[in-house]
Amino acid sequence: MRTAFLHIDRLLLAHQRYWRFEPFHESGSKDHRFTNTELGDWLESLSMQQVQQCKQNVQTLTSTLTTFLPSLADLAQHSCLKQTQVPPVTLNSRLTTGVPGRKLTQITAMGAQVLHQHCGTQWLEWCAGKGFLGRILADQSQQAVRSFEWQSELCEKGQAEANKQQLPVTFIEGDAFNCDHKAVFNHQQHAVALHACGDLHVALMHHAMNYQLPALSIAPCCYHLIQGEHYQAQSDEGKASSLILSKSELRIPLQETVTGGERVQRHRLLEMSFRLGLDELLRGELGLQQYQPIPSIKKSQLQLGFREFCLWAAQRKGLTLPECDFEQYRLQGELRFARMEKLSLVQMAFHRALEMWLVLDKSLFLAKHGYQITLNEFCSKAITPRNILIHAKRTEPRCDTNCTK
Ligand SMILES: C[S@@+](CC[C@H](N)C(=O)[O-])C[C@H]1O[C@@H](n2cnc3c(N)ncnc32)[C@H](O)[C@@H]1O
Repeated sequence: MRTAFLHIDRLLLAHQRYWRFEPFHESGSKDHRFTNTELGDWLESLSMQQVQQCKQNVQTLTSTLTTFLPSLADLAQHSCLKQTQVPPVTLNSRLTTGVPGRKLTQITAMGAQVLHQHCGTQWLEWCAGKGFLGRILADQSQQAVRSFEWQSELCEKGQAEANKQQLPVTFIEGDAFNCDHKAVFNHQQHAVALHACGDLHVALMHHAMNYQLPALSIAPCCYHLIQGEHYQAQSDEGKASSLILSKSELRIPLQETVTGGERVQRHRLLEMSFRLGLDELLRGELGLQQYQPIPSIKKSQLQLGFREFCLWAAQRKGLTLPECDFEQYRLQGELRFARMEKLSLVQMAFHRALEMWLVLDKSLFLAKHGYQITLNEFCSKAITPRNILIHAKRTEPRCDTNCTK
């Protein structure tokens, strides 16, 4: 792990020019960082259909980009994780009612992995939501589950469902950053956290270490949801690195989403090109130099057309727009959208490496504090791109825990 971390760290630092930028903002000028390079010429030559194809197959994209950036092959190799096959769990239909399709696949896959690697005699479900995962673990293992969650409505719904199914689940309402930890943690628990954002899973790691939990299994997400302005490295190796990631850079790995269908893509083209077109208009007509963030907008509002979108946004920002050639700005927005998408392709080849840097930083921290780490993908990226599972097992279990593996 240490070798992989140092390798990824070095390559990310050496290639900052290729991932440390915001394609949205850089799309503003015809000349960008790759103009007049072979890579720039290749990007220029792509049709929008080819751009879409590249986005749908990052592996092929990466090997194509390797022609221009040979180190990408090395980076991809060090960022690659296996999907471990474990016996699937068979669920009673009462457990699955009310869980949307893709979410159910994620939870079942994560459930199968953690049951297979279970250590301890109880479970703790951290940032549980409605506690779907906890109910599966309770049902399959017949062991007690504490489901810790912040939102009281989710706690009430989760508890009611567990009671209905007569499962040994107890919800505890609380704030991960300021909780009555004695009421939440005990030395018997295997803690699980499915998609606990940024600092929430880091808080769990520290509690796990203090309570010497026999195991913890974390599927991290939303790395940018942190309390500080920059990422706080956890491991000694991370602290020693000169890679200091800002909140906006922590969003980069999250830009790899499950590519939606044609309708979703059309909607995205419309929304993004309108936003970019408005940016051009505000610069051209009002002389504004800074990008003006516009709140999220309903799909139906976009259907009214670019001019209506601009008037709506101007009203929200307290700006008055002059009469101007809206169509020309709409077309400029479309051009910028195409440029933004092409620039994003280069950054995309670094998404996973950046995510692995964060995951390895956490893993090295846990390893230093007495845990043996297994990293794998608990489901395919098509189900969720946030599919990395950090499984940490105490190497010297306390004598009062019961390790099944
Ligand atoms: C992305 S959801 C994941 C929920 C669930 N684990 C799942 O995968 O369905 C994150 C959960 O963390 C909870 N949460 C957010 N901030 C929290 C805090 N400070 N303390 C405890 N839970 C929190 C949210 O209410 C939400 O239910």
